[in-house]
Amino acid sequence: MYNLLKGKKGIIFGALDDKSMAWKVAEHAHAEGAKFTLSNTQVAIRYGTLDELAEKCNAEIIPADATSIEDIENVIKKSMEILGGKVDFILHSIGMSINVRKKRTYDDIDYGFMMKTLDISAISFHKVIKTAYQLDAMNEWGSIVGLSYIAAQRTLFRYNDMADAKAMLESIARSFGYIYGRDKKVRINTISQSPTLTTAGKGVKGIGDLLDFTERMSPLGNATADELAQYCITLFSDLTRKVTMQNLFHDGGFSNMGMSERAMHQYSKGIDD
Ligand SMILES: NC(=O)c1ccc[n+]([C@@H]2O[C@H](COP(=O)([O-])OP(=O)(O)OC[C@H]3O[C@@H](n4cnc5c(N)ncnc54)[C@H](O)[C@@H]3O)[C@@H](O)[C@H]2O)c1
Repeated sequence: MYNLLKGKKGIIFGALDDKSMAWKVAEHAHAEGAKFTLSNTQVAIRYGTLDELAEKCNAEIIPADATSIEDIENVIKKSMEILGGKVDFILHSIGMSINVRKKRTYDDIDYGFMMKTLDISAISFHKVIKTAYQLDAMNEWGSIVGLSYIAAQRTLFRYNDMADAKAMLESIARSFGYIYGRDKKVRINTISQSPTLTTAGKGVKGIGDLLDFTERMSPLGNATADELAQYCITLFSDLTRKVTMQNLFHDGGFSNMGMSERAMHQYSKGIDD
């Protein structure tokens, strides 16, 4: 480890179990010397294994539904009390679609569920950033990261209304990135991660085939949750101070591929059959 986050304080939203992207980020942040609080919904805390992570990282858990401004305010205020001042980084690792869960297809979407998807998976990012901004809760050169997926920009069948939520998430990083950068020198970015087998990832129908496809198409292969965590640490560190308002692909090169040799080989075999 490199002590990249020595003396830094943060808030990590969205660790559910040891498969979660946020869980890996917390482990790496702890190893790099950061102190932080953890947050998730009451239900997730009850059914997940967040206590184990909290103990391991010596972190306190502050429950919150990320769609509730009051809950977010409470997380940010309590985190500043516990950590002894303003924070340097925030991870937003939150996503959920009831349409996906209930297998409502995109051409037969339930609009009530869609509003929930947008609120939980995208608007909550705005709510977290806005609350931190209004409470002046971040140190200069602080860093806020949200997690996105390439379906925000290209159609990947079955990602459903989460694609719309991710498009909004990436847009919020740009829109608020300008304001927070201008006023407080805080950077805001999203990382667009390879498909990964987490609880949220498994909810996407056909994730197994998708993982195989992206693995074959990416020159470096799929990025794992551990590798995502390492990338996040660089964005929380002082080594990336001028990176803001970006959607950063962390996908082994997948986003810039059209056709790979291996995929072409598979395709030709299919045609011959
Ligand atoms: N797994 C993938 O393939 C993949 C790929 C790219 C991006 N992402 C994104 O990464 C992020 C983390 O997902 P993950 O894959 O680690 O899965 P995960 O299921 O471990 O994490 C999702 C988290 O969102 C939390 N959450 C849901 N509703 C909430 C609410 N109302 N308030 C607060 N928290 C709430 C859940 O409790 C859970 O901890 C999500 O934004 C997801 O869309 C995932």
